[in-house]
Amino acid sequence: MKVLVVGGGGREHAICYKIAQSTQVDKIYCAPGNAGIASVAECVSIGVMEFDKLVAFAKEKAVDLVVVAPDDPLVAGLVDRFESEGIRTFGPRANAAIIEGSKAFSKDLMKKYNIPSASYETFDNPDAAIEYLKTKKMPIVLKADGLALGKGVLICNTLEEAIEGVGTIMTDKKFGSAGNRMVVEDFMTGREVSVLLFCDGENIKAMSSAQDHKRAKDGDQGLNTGGMGNFSPSPFYTDEVREFCEEKIYKPTMAAMRAEGRPFKGVLFVGLMLTPDGPKVLEYNARFGDPEAQVVLPRLKNDIIDVFNACIDGTLDKINLEFSDDACVTVILASDGYPLSYEKGFKITGLENFEGKDDYFVFHAGTKFDNEGNVVTNGGRVLAVTATGPDLVTARSKAYAAVDWVDFGNKYYRHDIGKAIDEAK
Ligand code: GLY
Repeated sequence: MKVLVVGGGGREHAICYKIAQSTQVDKIYCAPGNAGIASVAECVSIGVMEFDKLVAFAKEKAVDLVVVAPDDPLVAGLVDRFESEGIRTFGPRANAAIIEGSKAFSKDLMKKYNIPSASYETFDNPDAAIEYLKTKKMPIVLKADGLALGKGVLICNTLEEAIEGVGTIMTDKKFGSAGNRMVVEDFMTGREVSVLLFCDGENIKAMSSAQDHKRAKDGDQGLNTGGMGNFSPSPFYTDEVREFCEEKIYKPTMAAMRAEGRPFKGVLFVGLMLTPDGPKVLEYNARFGDPEAQVVLPRLKNDIIDVFNACIDGTLDKINLEFSDDACVTVILASDGYPLSYEKGFKITGLENFEGKDDYFVFHAGTKFDNEGNVVTNGGRVLAVTATGPDLVTARSKAYAAVDWVDFGNKYYRHDIGKAIDEAK
């Protein structure tokens, strides 16, 4: 069969790597892909929002299955578009992807269906938001309603910071139209855990847990990013936590989306906070996380095509989802300056060090080939250096050793990915 993956980052590299392991697949296309994805798929120079071109390409190549990975095209209805053209597609339709596309929608959903989450209010007007903030305890969380590349969340420690944050989101429109509305949410404390769920509209199969590191700098300092590193599984996601989440969060969310006439098919990413009052939802995403995919998919034992098909056909209950007992850690190598401004176009050396090793992976995020065929940096997040091992400590030391195998101009990374592993001992 022929598969088209839509996207071009580290997450899509991990998805393509997993699809390439399927004995059912003869050919993988990836639009637009990147220099690393080119080693497992044929990259096609079509952007993720160029719906007409993507559909025309899928028809021309008689693609059997399309996998839509990033949030923007999901929220804008790319799955609906492919389906309306009779093309089999993995991912939620727009009316379900809204669970990520609108923070106000997801907060209202949780409130209506008693799914544990922080208290909140939604505002269309900055002055009303500021009046509300004056009544609140700090710290407080401001969230741009729409999509903002994972960066539209501000944690404000003082009222002054919060008022400035309202200006950033709603008046200066730093995150564009995503800031036309804003959610103000109570600050939660605890450990964060990410859990990705395969969903078929009714049934759920949870993947192994993971933990992200969203801030740019060591010690969880600096600006929010898409994610600077990750590990899987989380030692804090105990059986007791898992059972609570399944009964009080995952199943009710699926039932709520069905009841609202928005059945969710695809991957639902549940960002959890393990608070002193129990697990609560921080956020939902309508897709694999990035870099969660890079630590979870290397551990998935199933043929991913079987799982994608079960999600589409509503037969996920027949799938026995299995993960290896190995742990996995990924460290993002970024361009210094990310998530603000950074230079691109530096030659990347040392990638060959990963060849022929089953327990090390270098997933490409922002890379491309230059005119001479060199692999060069082409984004804020450049590479996800990933290793597996029998336990988290071993996987982490392997991943950090491998960070030195590659080099490029302005290479930057966090030195404390997986620090929480030591606290779990
Ligand atoms: N790593 C967080 C995200 O994918 O949104």
